[in-house]
This record gives sequence, structure tokens and C-alpha cells, in this order.
Amino acid sequence: MSWSYCIANPVVHAAHLLWCMPHYAAWYRRGRQACQWVVLMGALWLAGCGGPQSALDPAGRGAERIADLFWWMTAGAIVIWLAVIGLAFYAIRVRPEAHSRRQANLLIIGGGAIIPTVVLTGLLAYGLALMPDLLAPAPEGSLKIAVTGEQWWWRVRYLPPGGNGVAVELANEIRLPVGERVEFHLESPDVIHSFWIPALGGKIDMIPGRTNRLTLEPTRTGVFRGACAEYCGTSHALMSFSVVVLEQEDFARWLAHQAEPAQEPTLPLATDGQALFLANGCGACHTVRGTPADGVVGPDLTHVGSRLSLGAGILPNEPEAFLRWIAHTEEVKPGVLMPAFGMLPPEDLRALAAYLNGLE
Ligand code: CUA
Repeated sequence: MSWSYCIANPVVHAAHLLWCMPHYAAWYRRGRQACQWVVLMGALWLAGCGGPQSALDPAGRGAERIADLFWWMTAGAIVIWLAVIGLAFYAIRVRPEAHSRRQANLLIIGGGAIIPTVVLTGLLAYGLALMPDLLAPAPEGSLKIAVTGEQWWWRVRYLPPGGNGVAVELANEIRLPVGERVEFHLESPDVIHSFWIPALGGKIDMIPGRTNRLTLEPTRTGVFRGACAEYCGTSHALMSFSVVVLEQEDFARWLAHQAEPAQEPTLPLATDGQALFLANGCGACHTVRGTPADGVVGPDLTHVGSRLSLGAGILPNEPEAFLRWIAHTEEVKPGVLMPAFGMLPPEDLRALAAYLNGLE
């Protein structure tokens, strides 16, 4: 069950409760078995609140503030719901007779104006108090990462400190040092995408012609999942990315490795794959640093074998998946720009897959 169902649809939950409550009550009367069933369903429902893409299982400073706000709002909603149900019960069962006009006026003014004003003002004040922390810019000299939303993958560039030198480019994977504020520069060359790592913080749109900035600070290590949160075309749902939060020294080692050129293939199959990669024109769209391949249309493949997944989070990183991607691209990701190379002989496809998987 997805977390978005869990948090984004309070209306659905309220309707579900109102609709099903009489049934639940009847089941409860029917005995223990039904009761256990309800507990099981509740547990399944709550299971959607954890995992690598849950805003309710925060691993970043922004996400912690947002989760706090969510729980306060949920608690408030429960209190209000109980009060409304209690009043309804009181009016129907406890004192069903007509009330005086004075009592009715008090109820309307109190319940209709004063209580909502107090509750909403309190929530507004609490929400505004969170803003400075959520929007605080990263300090001078902090890590800067430019992320471009493409149809349908993520171009990730680690900008060199001070703006000098060469950026390190990769795709569909972001690694971050724990406990450091990182500034993201978010762009799009085509349509509006939305950059969201629910476990780390809030989301922000990527708008063509603009550079939006977002600061995130991971508070614990782990592997999380980011996604596009704005419908952007056919394969919008096939556009996710991995976020790996590392200890600072592990992160520095990883970034230094990403900055290196690709390693030369050693096995004969992979060596054949490299020759095929260059001969079939793959380098017109893809860069493999250290080789003549320097295309910039598609993802940089210099260290593609070291990533956690392929195709923007949709395939495992293994030779069979490379083969499937190269031969049946359109099948795996409908609407994708890369043409399928299914016309190549199977042995050539295997060689290409071995070469790419070896680019660690
Ligand atoms: Cu990119 Cu939806």
C-alpha cells in the first residue's frame, strides 16, 4: 500500500470510516475472528507509513518538521472528529428533544466560528514557525548538486566547489553525506517535473527556463527513494531515483571514484562490447569518460555499473537487465527517446551488456 494513500487522502479515510463503521461494529459483535481481521487490515494500512519512500519515516531535517506537522494535524483532526461525532450522538440519543434558541446560537457561534478560528490560527502559526527551518539556504561552501528532470530520467551533476573545474555527472542516483546541508539546483529542459525525496524533505517543481533551489539535510544513513511528483508524460510513473546517504568519508571516496574516467574492460566479452558500443553510435547520445563516447542527450554511463538500478529505478543493475533495456527499450519504458537495438545479434547484445555492467 503506497504511503501517498496513507497520508494524502484523509477524506478517503474519513469516508471509509463513516461508511464501514457500522459493518465493523457488527463484525465485532460476531466475535473474535472478525476483530482479528480488523486488526490485520489496520496493520496492513499502517505498513504504508514506513519504508524508503515514506514522509512519515523521516531521515532528513525538513522531513522531520513535515512529519511533526502531519501528526499535529492528524491529532487535531481526530479530536475534532470525535467532538463532532460526540455532539451528534448527544443530539440524537442523549437529548433528542428540542433545544432552546440560546443553546443553539451558542453552539453555532462556538462550534462554527470560535473553535475553527482558534484551531486554524494555531495551525497557521505552527506552520509559519516551521518555514525558516525548511527554507534556510545552505551555508557558503556547501555541496551543490544540479538535478535536471528529463523525460523520463534524472541528470545529476555534482558542481565543483567554487564553480571551477569539471562537474561530476551521473544519472538516476544521488549520494549524500549525512549531517550536511546540500543545495540542489533543479531544472528541466522539456516539461514540468517535480523533485521529491519524501524521506528527506519537501518537494519542489522543476520548471523549464527556471532554476529552483532546495536545501536538504539527511540525518541518518540509508537508501531512500525519490520520485517525480508531477505528471510529465507517458512514463511519468517510471521515473524514480535512488538516494544513498553515506558517512562523510564514504561519500568523499564515492565522489572521487565517480570523478575518475571509466575503467577499461578486461574480459574479452566486455572488450568486444566496448567496440560495439562505439561502432553502433551509442556515443552520439551517451558519454563514457575516457573513451571517444561523448554524447550529452542521454545519461552519462561512465560508472553505470556501480548504480543501484537501471532505467531510472525500474530494472535491477545486472547484465540481463542491460540486455533487455537495449533490445526492448520501448517495451520497458513507453515513449522513451532511446531507440531499441533489438536488431543486433544476441551475442552482440550480450557483449554490450557485459561492457556496460562492468563500468563500475
Ligand atoms: Cu517527471 Cu513526472
